[in-house]
Amino acid sequence: MAKAQDYGFGAFAFPRGWFMIGRTEDATETPSSVRYFGTDMVLYRGKSGKARLVEAYCPHMGAHLAKNTTSYIVLDGEHVQGESIRCPFHGWRFDENGQCDHIPYSDFIPKAACLKTFPVTEFAGILWTWYDPEGLEPDYPLPSFGNHYGEPGWVEWNMAHLGDLDIHGCEIVDNMADLGHMVPVHGSTECIYFSNEFVDHVVHQYFGTRHRNEVANHEYNMLMLDTWRTGPGILESDMQGRFPGFWLIASTPIDDGRERVWSGIMVQVNDGTQAPSAEDIALAREFSMNAVHGLGQDVEIWANKRDCINPMALPADGPYGRLRTWYRQFFNPRDKAAELQKRVNGRTVTLDLREAKGIAVDVFHAPPQKALQSA
Ligand code: FES
Ligand SMILES: [Fe+2]
Repeated sequence: MAKAQDYGFGAFAFPRGWFMIGRTEDATETPSSVRYFGTDMVLYRGKSGKARLVEAYCPHMGAHLAKNTTSYIVLDGEHVQGESIRCPFHGWRFDENGQCDHIPYSDFIPKAACLKTFPVTEFAGILWTWYDPEGLEPDYPLPSFGNHYGEPGWVEWNMAHLGDLDIHGCEIVDNMADLGHMVPVHGSTECIYFSNEFVDHVVHQYFGTRHRNEVANHEYNMLMLDTWRTGPGILESDMQGRFPGFWLIASTPIDDGRERVWSGIMVQVNDGTQAPSAEDIALAREFSMNAVHGLGQDVEIWANKRDCINPMALPADGPYGRLRTWYRQFFNPRDKAAELQKRVNGRTVTLDLREAKGIAVDVFHAPPQKALQSA
């Protein structure tokens, strides 16, 4: 499988950004083994309830901190104490900063007895980390997902793990600029509008299409989507269909050239003045299953394709090249990122048949208010 270097993205093997590392329920007081960014890690929840992510191997003699069921450290319930995690091999314990704070048989604790820790933020039922090869603080905030998580009238998402794909993350990102696959893969019957707007670390896709399934209540049966990617790991979509919906696709590198993908949708079933009925919830679930199925159609392609270093792109495909240049900003130091942003910021309209088809402009979900500012 091709790696970041094979695509020529830049200095880093893994991109800077916010990434999902699990669902809220994945962090418990029983430490578990996870792997992201080419690094074996351990996820656990301290007694305070805070989720913690640390490197997997003990600096003493290299034991894996989670993969154990038989040591008396584990059997006696001493694996997690307070915010600290204790190694199952000789019992060295590491606090929330990764510093060793107890060795059962020695008062002397070496300064170098320290585990690397990774930041964890819990939001919208999801565990997130900020990954940065330069080790700097986030230069953009974690998205708020339209503030719909927990909002009255909305049925929350239930993030589904769609697979671990032997594919570089860029081939997933390519989808943002891919008009040509909408009819064959996703069942569009007539695409009316498709454009991309590049705004620094964000890229939008505005898409309006008729669809073979019943997707909307109005006369055009038009699905209208404002879909945007915030950095390399988070795709959100504001959907105006049968129900207002808000879709998240999260993808995180496991290794260079291997990516984990999750997806979930929140659906608005009423104005929030009453609790959703069982019928509302069932309908919302069905609607969101259809959309998750839609992503499954992409996943089947991604899981089986070969790497594509150089797309044989047509102008009618969409701006793949511009999108990959946008993507490169996350693989390079921040001072270089600004220059790449400057190169791509702006808008590409790949398709606009609104006038030709006599379809009123305002049936589209906000073609691109935000976009117009930098068009
Ligand atoms: S290897 Fe972890 S305490 Fe010895
Ligand atoms: Fe797709």
